[in-house]
Amino acid sequence: MAVHVVDHPLVRHKLGILRRDATSTSEFRSVSNEIARLLIYEVSKGFETEKRVVKGWAGPVEVECISGKKVTIVPLLRAGLGLMDGVLDMIPGAKISVIGLYRDEKTLKPIEYYAKLARKIEDRMAIVLDPMLATGGSLIAAIDILKKRGCRHICSVNLVCAPEGLKKLEETHPDVDVYTAAVDSHLNENGYIIPGLGDAGDRIFGTK
Ligand code: PRP
Ligand code: URA
Repeated sequence: MAVHVVDHPLVRHKLGILRRDATSTSEFRSVSNEIARLLIYEVSKGFETEKRVVKGWAGPVEVECISGKKVTIVPLLRAGLGLMDGVLDMIPGAKISVIGLYRDEKTLKPIEYYAKLARKIEDRMAIVLDPMLATGGSLIAAIDILKKRGCRHICSVNLVCAPEGLKKLEETHPDVDVYTAAVDSHLNENGYIIPGLGDAGDRIFGTK
């Protein structure tokens, strides 16, 4: 498993905006999508391309086009929806597979309540979207669902990760790479990432 921490001044600056408690819901939403765009840029560095000849203004010209596996993005409800638009800006043709999970507040175990996946997902690369990778339970449950449906090429895009969740992911799904803006210090006693962003779902949806 590789953890790609995207160390770029724009990412560091924008993450700082998200960390500020005073950041409004609308700014939190727009900046989350801006970071998602920058993280997906890193993911897509691994995409294959093929050469083609097109008719250019001065005659035939060789260009490169994305080839290889088609993509499905997999936002985890709810908070993963907060990264979706940014990713679609860069990969507009991606099919969208949705998985609904929430963390039980006491046990911190993920509870699945919805799954609608793209057709022929076994032939696609799946990019899971969730702002927070805390205990790792939600991401691991989502990957279990994708693998059960035959999906073999999976990566994850998360704004912030906890070391505890990354360790668990490495133990259960070592084939899944992670792209993130930061690996934070630790989880607190309630399973929240410190320093983290707080409750990302609430901040994106303006609830609580
Ligand atoms: C949050 C977050 C992740 C999960 C991370 O979701 O968006 O999905 O917790 O925690 P974990 O790594 O310990 O599983 P939450 O359960 O708050 O649901 P929401 O997205 O509907 O707000
Ligand atoms: N879910 C969140 O939204 N934030 C955390 O820090 C942990 C789980």
